[in-house]
Amino acid sequence: MRARSWFPAAIPGRTVVLRPHNGRNLPAFKRWYGDPEVARLTRYQEGPMRADEVERFFEARVAGVGSLALAIHLAETDRLIGTCAFSQLDGDNGSALFHITIGEPDCWGRGYGSEATALMLEHAFGPLGLHRVALAVFEYNERAIRAYRKVGFSVEGRSREAIWRGGRFWDEIQMSILEDEWRAGRERALGLAPALEQAR
Ligand SMILES: CC(C)(COP(=O)(O)OP(=O)(O)OC[C@H]1O[C@@H](n2cnc3c(N)ncnc32)[C@H](O)[C@@H]1OP(=O)(O)O)[C@@H](O)C(=O)NCCC(=O)NCCS
Repeated sequence: MRARSWFPAAIPGRTVVLRPHNGRNLPAFKRWYGDPEVARLTRYQEGPMRADEVERFFEARVAGVGSLALAIHLAETDRLIGTCAFSQLDGDNGSALFHITIGEPDCWGRGYGSEATALMLEHAFGPLGLHRVALAVFEYNERAIRAYRKVGFSVEGRSREAIWRGGRFWDEIQMSILEDEWRAGRERALGLAPALEQAR
């Protein structure tokens, strides 16, 4: 099945737009995954990915037929800033795993990641017809945990001391969101309704 059948040509948001990847995005992937800080936040192995590892990852998981990865671009300038994807799509049980990397550090903490995540969930619980989306995140990645919570994910478990990083063990946290939870909070997550604090 071709990847393009899973996603429309673009999923537009307010600040970001998600689009299928193409081969021109590979140099950006090499830069992102060669960054020690991105590696610390995303990789189970110590240290950044080598260029040949990035190439294999890109071919198999990003540009490959049947891939569920989308590029994150800034809506205003079209700048490519990251990537997001579903893996382990399980049609029998209506579930998938979510992954996201904004590879450009100057774009962290500006709301782009939570909006991209909300757009992916809208697609997951709408056209893809999923019931549950899960993810795993390292305990020390507080920015990511906060972004996921904002969109509606909650913690459902933790693998204790599963990650050795920076001279100590850290938990890997499992988070998930179910379809009815998404429906209850989607307007706020998509920026279609005022934030709770503002609404009060
Ligand atoms: C994780 C990631 C997708 C989040 O996207 P983002 O655009 O940076 O996040 P957002 O701006 O939408 O939300 C981040 C929240 O954390 C807060 N935050 C920012 N930096 C923080 C930090 N160092 N520690 C704790 N919270 C932080 C922000 O204030 C914001 O919360 P608020 O809106 O309530 O104020 C992005 O940072 C990223 O890709 N990082 C590198 C790779 C990575 O960690 N991937 C995830 C692996 S599980």
